[in-house]
Amino acid sequence: MMFVSQAAKFNPKDWRDADKSPLVFMAYMNRGKEEVSDYAKLSEDLGFAAVGITMDTVRPVKIGDEVPLSTKDGKPRRGHKSTTKDIEWMKQQVSLPVVVKGIMGGDDARAAVNAGADALVVSNHGGRILDYNRAALEALPEVVDAVGGKIPVLLDSGIRSGGDIVKALALGAKAVLVGRPVAWGVGAFGALGVERVFTIFTEEMQRVMTMTGAARIADVTKSMLFRDEPGGAHAL
Ligand SMILES: Cc1cc2nc3c(=O)[nH]c(=O)nc-3n(C[C@H](O)[C@H](O)[C@H](O)COP(=O)(O)O)c2cc1C
Repeated sequence: MMFVSQAAKFNPKDWRDADKSPLVFMAYMNRGKEEVSDYAKLSEDLGFAAVGITMDTVRPVKIGDEVPLSTKDGKPRRGHKSTTKDIEWMKQQVSLPVVVKGIMGGDDARAAVNAGADALVVSNHGGRILDYNRAALEALPEVVDAVGGKIPVLLDSGIRSGGDIVKALALGAKAVLVGRPVAWGVGAFGALGVERVFTIFTEEMQRVMTMTGAARIADVTKSMLFRDEPGGAHAL
């Protein structure tokens, strides 16, 4: 499954033509409601699996000391407000499931669920939006608790190995998203590089599951995790 951003170079049709896997269109509300609605509806017509909203970019991403310039008007990028009204609005545009990305705490998770979100992505945007933010993995248990099984919770940010995937699943994620490792795979060997990244992750997952006695994904539970605390490690 591939999540495609509205900030990507191509529009939903190009992605559909290029790829047979299930696609999720991820909107940026700062593009304006008209463009977001058009793209969301086009994604639905093209058979995308879901649409979503990236809700954490209230201030634009900084790279080093710089706010990158907009490819549209050459001016520094602007952030955008995120409110539960955006979720309610998106639910009216399409009949696809609506995914909310960028949740990092229980209160926001509850608000998103109440507004009609069909899935949440716990994400700190790969650490790109707030210095000293919690790791997404640290925020995951709180979000899973808040959601209480009503909708799936996915984990994004910092997945670098199959072991990281097992940890996310053990803490209640239904799935994980992978960002930069895919880009590194493309940079190294194009499509083959991406395939290799997922082969490595799969092999690592199998190894970790074997070594922790989990025969299948359903056997991956938080009982296999220990957390370092002052005074010693504690089972979760
Ligand atoms: C170059 C770059 C561009 C990104 N652009 C977007 C974007 O347009 N929309 C979005 O939701 N996330 C964007 N992200 C964040 C990723 O979707 C994802 O949250 C993050 O990369 C996950 O962390 P990881 O790279 O550690 O796996 C971007 C990340 C990078 C590195």
